[in-house]
Amino acid sequence: MPCPQIPNPEDPMAGKKPTVSLFVILMCVTAIGVFLMETDSKVQLKSTFQPTYVDPCSCGKCLSENDTWFMKRFNESEDPFLSEHFSLSAAAFSWWRLLQGERCSFLKFKNTVNALFQIFPPNPHVLEPRPERCRTCAVVGNSINLKGSGYGRLIDHHDVIIRINYGPTKGFEADVGNRTTHRVMYPESSMDLDDTTHLILFPFKLRDLEWLIRVFTARFPGKKYGSLKSVMTGNKDLVMVLNPTFMKYVHESWLDMKGKYPSTGFITLILALHICGEVDVFGYGADKDGNWSHYFEKLTSKTLKTGVHPGLHEYEVIGKLARKRKITFFSGRHNL
Ligand SMILES: *[C@@H]1O[C@H](CO)[C@@H](O)[C@H](O)[C@H]1NC(C)=O
Ligand SMILES: *[C@@H]1O[C@H](CO)[C@@H](O)[C@H](O)[C@H]1NC(C)=O
Ligand SMILES: *[C@@H]1O[C@H](CO)[C@@H](O)[C@H](O)[C@H]1NC(C)=O
Ligand SMILES: *[C@@H]1O[C@H](CO)[C@@H](O)[C@H](O)[C@H]1NC(C)=O
Repeated sequence: MPCPQIPNPEDPMAGKKPTVSLFVILMCVTAIGVFLMETDSKVQLKSTFQPTYVDPCSCGKCLSENDTWFMKRFNESEDPFLSEHFSLSAAAFSWWRLLQGERCSFLKFKNTVNALFQIFPPNPHVLEPRPERCRTCAVVGNSINLKGSGYGRLIDHHDVIIRINYGPTKGFEADVGNRTTHRVMYPESSMDLDDTTHLILFPFKLRDLEWLIRVFTARFPGKKYGSLKSVMTGNKDLVMVLNPTFMKYVHESWLDMKGKYPSTGFITLILALHICGEVDVFGYGADKDGNWSHYFEKLTSKTLKTGVHPGLHEYEVIGKLARKRKITFFSGRHNL
C-alpha cells in the first residue's frame, strides 16, 4: 500500500517556535551531575543547523585525526535524537517504515511525534564533545564475556554509563558495575527504570512510539499488543527517542547497508561516538562457539546468531574502530 504522505526531503517538519518550557527547566535542573543535558538554553539554535564538518575534539584527541576511513563515515551533523524540530527525509522515513513492514503514513508519524512531545522533553539536548569538556562513556553490552571479568568498578568510574535492553546490574555488580545513567531499549526489551536514568528509546516502528506514550500515561487509547509492559516506572523528563534518520545513517555510513538494519548494540556504539569524548566498550561479542550469549541468562535458542543484523560485519567495524583508537574495546573473558 502506498504511503501518500511522504514528505518533501527539503521540508523538515514545521513546528512551533522553541520556548523554554518547563521541561527544559526541569531538564536543566536534572542536568547537574548528569552529563548529557545542556544547562544552557542557547541549545535551541541547534535546529537551524547547517551541515558542517567539524572535527570533534575532546579528551585530548580529535576523532578524525589523519583518518579518511573514519571521516568518510562519521557525520557530526547527524542529530541522534528526535526533537520538536527534527528532520526526517522521505528516503529515511520509507527505509524505517519497511524495517518491520509497517504501513503508517508520514502524517501519522508526525502526529505521534507531536503527541510524544506533549509528554516528554521536546528538546532533548545532548552535549557534543568539545575540547574543554571531556566526557567519558562506558557502553555496556550484554555479552557473556562480561562474566567473571571483574569490570564493575572500571565501568562505574565513567561519567556516562549506557546499558542496553534489560541487562541487569543487580547480582552482577562485580562484573558490570552498579551505576546506569542511560539505558537504551525498545518495547520488547524494556524494563523499569529509576528516577535518575535516561531512557533512550530506539523505535523500530510507529507502535514503539505509541507504546512509549502509553506506558508513561496509562491512558493512551492505542491497541494493546502482545505481552509488552503496559506501565513503566521511570522519569519522563529523561526520555529521549532516537531519530530514525540516525539508524539509517548508521546502516549506510557505518555498515555499507549490509544486513537489513543495524543491531541495537551497534547503533548504541555509534551513538556514543557522537555524544562522548571517550568511548569504552564492554560486553560486546560472541562466546567462543560464536553464540551471542548473555552474561545474565542461558541462551535458549541454539541457532540464534544475529538474526537480521549484519553481526560479523558490525564486529569487524568495531574492531577497526578499536585499532584506530576511536574506542577502547574491553574484551572480557574469552574462555567461557
Ligand atoms: C597526524 O599527522 C600529523 C602530521 O603528519 C602527525 O604529526 C601526527 O602524529 C599524526 N597523528 C596520528 C594520530 O597519527
Ligand atoms: C551529514 O548529515 C547531514 C544531516 O543529516 C546531512 O544533511 C548531510 O548530507 C550528511 N553528510 C553526508 C556526507 O552524508
Ligand atoms: C555501587 O558499588 C559501590 C562499590 O563498588 C558502592 O560503594 C555503592 O554504594 C554502590 N551503589 C549503589 C547505588 O548500589
Ligand atoms: C553454541 O554454538 C555451538 C556451535 O554452533 C552449538 O553446538 C551450541 O549448542 C551453542 N550453544 C548454545 C548454548 O546455544
